[in-house]
Amino acid sequence: MTSPAPGVGFRFAGVGAHLPDTIVTNDDLSKNMDTTHEWIFDRTGIGQRHVGGTTSELATAACEKAMQRAGVGPEDIDQLLLATTSPDFICPGTAPQVAHNLGLDCGALDIQAACSGWVYGLVHANGLLLQGMDRILVAGAEALDQITDYTDRGTGILFGNGAGAAVVERDPTGASELLGFDLGAAGEFVHILYAEHGGLLQMDGKEVFRQAVTAINRSATNALERAGLTVADIDLVLPHQANIRIVEAAWKKLGFTMEQTAMRLHETGNTSAASIPLVLDQALDQGRIKEGSIVMFLGFGAGMTWATTIHRWSGDVR
Ligand code: ACO
Repeated sequence: MTSPAPGVGFRFAGVGAHLPDTIVTNDDLSKNMDTTHEWIFDRTGIGQRHVGGTTSELATAACEKAMQRAGVGPEDIDQLLLATTSPDFICPGTAPQVAHNLGLDCGALDIQAACSGWVYGLVHANGLLLQGMDRILVAGAEALDQITDYTDRGTGILFGNGAGAAVVERDPTGASELLGFDLGAAGEFVHILYAEHGGLLQMDGKEVFRQAVTAINRSATNALERAGLTVADIDLVLPHQANIRIVEAAWKKLGFTMEQTAMRLHETGNTSAASIPLVLDQALDQGRIKEGSIVMFLGFGAGMTWATTIHRWSGDVR
């Protein structure tokens, strides 16, 4: 595979995020679980997580903000892609409900690629722009408290709820562009992180850690190569917010620095498909992405799946 077909540009027109109000701190968890704030924070970088709400409610709130910031109405959206691991129902998908809540009149479908889902969504959105659509809403939303086992200290400490969304559109000026991407999956690792129908998340933490580091290295390297860029060219990396130690271990091999990295894990926990748009929303608030910035999104998660995109950023979405 080569670089994305050039021609239509790829601009983030608006980005929004939403976290439910209820916060569960590590100290709160330690009241019902044999754990401590120090253990959780030291091993993962997580200090708290948000809980409550359904995936469709959280997604709707994030999408409303993204559309407002993009200055677009329901009639301007040609497709909704919703990445989620915790849909409201097994059937139907959650995207049609979110589209209905937003008053959209377009196609709407779920993407189930676990923590990589939102970045998968960006690549698929680029394909739809190339097909002639003008504007796609790409959301990532999770109500992971509904599939988390709070009696298991291996997984109960990790996950949180939240949502993020971006309106992406053609950019005929070419100022903003998808410069390169990489998507992958390795189904032989299904058993290391999964939830059965009606069940809760089960995880082999050490193996997930190992495979995540391998996937990150491989995917980032492939995407950089396809974009014709090096690690030093990237102004900001926004990795999936799973565990600070996973990011640090991967960065040792790749050569990224923490100064190049946006992290929001301490306040959100692992929000799976929502984690990257959530950290993007914060990075924009903090002014860390500017005109011409080269930005990398790097997702990895259950499946295993992985997904990396590299963008040249243009335009003010705040
Ligand atoms: N609090 C206190 N002690 C704990 C806890 C806890 N929450 N959990 C485990 N322990 C204990 C264990 O019982 C064990 O004790 P022992 O030595 O007396 O037997 C000790 O701590 C070490 O346990 P491990 O399971 O070996 O802990 P590890 O260092 O592997 O850390 C962790 C566990 C944090 C889950 C780690 O494996 C990890 O982060 N893995 C990646 C998982 C991940 O990020 N998943 C996210 C989903 S996938 C994705 O988004 C990519």
